[in-house]
Amino acid sequence: DTSERMRSLVRAQQEQLTRPGVDHEHLAAQMKQVHEEFVRLRMYYQFGIDEVQTKVNTLRQEFEQIHDYSPIEHVRSRLKSTESLVEKAVRTGGDMTIPAIRERVHDIAGVRITCSFVSDVYWIANMLSRQPDLEVLMTKDYIAAPKPNGYRSLHLIVQVPVFLSEHTEHVPVELQLRTIAMDFWASTEHKLSYKYRRNLPAHLREELDDAAQVAADLDARMERMRSEIRPMPDVDDH
Ligand code: GTP
Ligand code: MG
Repeated sequence: DTSERMRSLVRAQQEQLTRPGVDHEHLAAQMKQVHEEFVRLRMYYQFGIDEVQTKVNTLRQEFEQIHDYSPIEHVRSRLKSTESLVEKAVRTGGDMTIPAIRERVHDIAGVRITCSFVSDVYWIANMLSRQPDLEVLMTKDYIAAPKPNGYRSLHLIVQVPVFLSEHTEHVPVELQLRTIAMDFWASTEHKLSYKYRRNLPAHLREELDDAAQVAADLDARMERMRSEIRPMPDVDDH
């Protein structure tokens, strides 16, 4: 498993370091270079987060200023820690070079947008997708097709340009859009899965299953009330 693979990686590194006649200076220089590359990589992804966050904040503030209500309830972002980036890079298998890792780990940068209503989730996703400097690389609609455990959310991998001194970096950012009810369920499921390390007792699995249904029902009821607040947006309107 992952921790075993991590341990053997560390062991291999230690063996290399303690081998007689090893060039410590060269190895140290190599390790320093790898470390610097990771630091730079994470910096690029933080810039990507900043770009997306600015876009979302712009929409939110515009809504709050001009309209009587904002479809965006809250926004949270996170940059994957180096530790969990390395862990996922090892777990997913393949080359441990920076380009290969970037190719297979799509959630180094993550932004989560919580909305009140399901239709707002699609509305905001459309607003962002229409922006000319934002490219949608992948869409996973777990609202239309929830995961077997009941997880619902709309996932987009979007790519934004980050303009640096010497070049332009195209940074993929994982966008998770969901309602408050979906978020409540997902954060509870996450805490339980974490506690039970994915081996949930049957009665908790049933509870979660039931709660997922209740959350979906609540979203449907709220959606019906939404029309009283604001007319339905035309999501296909360009
Ligand atoms: P990861 O390797 O876990 O990132 O998943 P993936 O590459 O298969 O992509 P997916 O779209 O399925 O999931 C991406 C992210 O969505 C996860 O990292 C979680 O933040 C969230 N997510 C997906 N499935 C679940 C779930 O069942 N429960 C919870 N709480 N979150 C989930
Ligand atoms: Mg993830």
